[in-house]
Amino acid sequence: MPSVITQPVVSKLTRAAIFLVVTVKPEPQCEEAVRALCGDLASLLRAVGFRDLNGALTCVMGVGSDAWDRLFGQPRPAELHPFREIKGEHHAVSTPGDLLFHIRSMRMDLCFELATQIMSRLGDAVTAVDEVHGFKYFDERDLLGFVDGTENPVDQDAVDAVVIGEEDPGFAGGSYVIVQKYLHDVKAWDTVPVEQQERIIGRKKLSDIELDDAAKAPYAHNVLTTIEENGEQLEIVRDNMPFGDVGKGEFGTYFIGYARSPGRIEKMLVNMFVGRPPGNYDRLLDFSKAVTGTLFFVPSATFLANVPA
Ligand code: HEM
Repeated sequence: MPSVITQPVVSKLTRAAIFLVVTVKPEPQCEEAVRALCGDLASLLRAVGFRDLNGALTCVMGVGSDAWDRLFGQPRPAELHPFREIKGEHHAVSTPGDLLFHIRSMRMDLCFELATQIMSRLGDAVTAVDEVHGFKYFDERDLLGFVDGTENPVDQDAVDAVVIGEEDPGFAGGSYVIVQKYLHDVKAWDTVPVEQQERIIGRKKLSDIELDDAAKAPYAHNVLTTIEENGEQLEIVRDNMPFGDVGKGEFGTYFIGYARSPGRIEKMLVNMFVGRPPGNYDRLLDFSKAVTGTLFFVPSATFLANVPA
């Protein structure tokens, strides 16, 4: 099989990110404009990224389930489907989105410039349905004050967690991604004693040290998001970013999780929103409301480069 280049799903953590979700208008010329962008994305990225190579600019493009049929038809990635809402103790909503652009850099200006260039190529063909500008907050903390990202797999483990292999040979080198925009009730969270916050997350707040298994609550976030199959832990790669609007009193976490199968992330979400066992849900959700939820397939960079305009 010829070698396939993946999109930069596994890339080093950056200081800034833009999460841009758009829908594609249902007209043939709009779909054509998107197909033309697929082939041009790499050169746009080179042009903007070359302005500061230390800026580590990357972009991952994802495609939603319905959009896949409209843009590319058959064959389809084996596990691509629309994000399924989950109604349990809390509600994981499913919201529209045909394309995701996950743009990361050490500099927000590079992210902004690339997003601008992408949108000017797409013009009227798309409608932006959500745009979030994320920033790193002190030592990789979320706006609830906890370090976020510590247990992410790295190096080959990360690649093994996210890159599709022989299970779907026609789409090898691809990946799946789920995004959810969460808004936190920081005022209510701040009234919770730190020891209880630590039980909810499953780690110490200041030092980020994991609690002993014996000390962990059954509903701890890191208990409910640890899943296994045949005795092996199933991992995902996250690159969550804080965002906010002080004037509006908005404090958020943009969750982004990549995996070689969306089922892993969905299982974690069921554990969080319904509970494992049902009712033993993630208390983080008492203070965090999911206001978006969308699933995308991330084709390989080789696939994108070869899309006929
Ligand atoms: C771990 C925060 C949503 C999956 C963590 C940690 C924090 C955190 C602070 C501990 C440090 C670390 O290992 O990264 C949040 C916040 C969220 C959120 C603020 C949104 C409100 C989610 C969602 C999923 C998820 C939606 C998956 C569907 C995980 C996983 C771990 C983790 C897999 C590592 C568990 C381990 O192996 O110890 N998260 N998270 N998180 N989170 Fe989340």
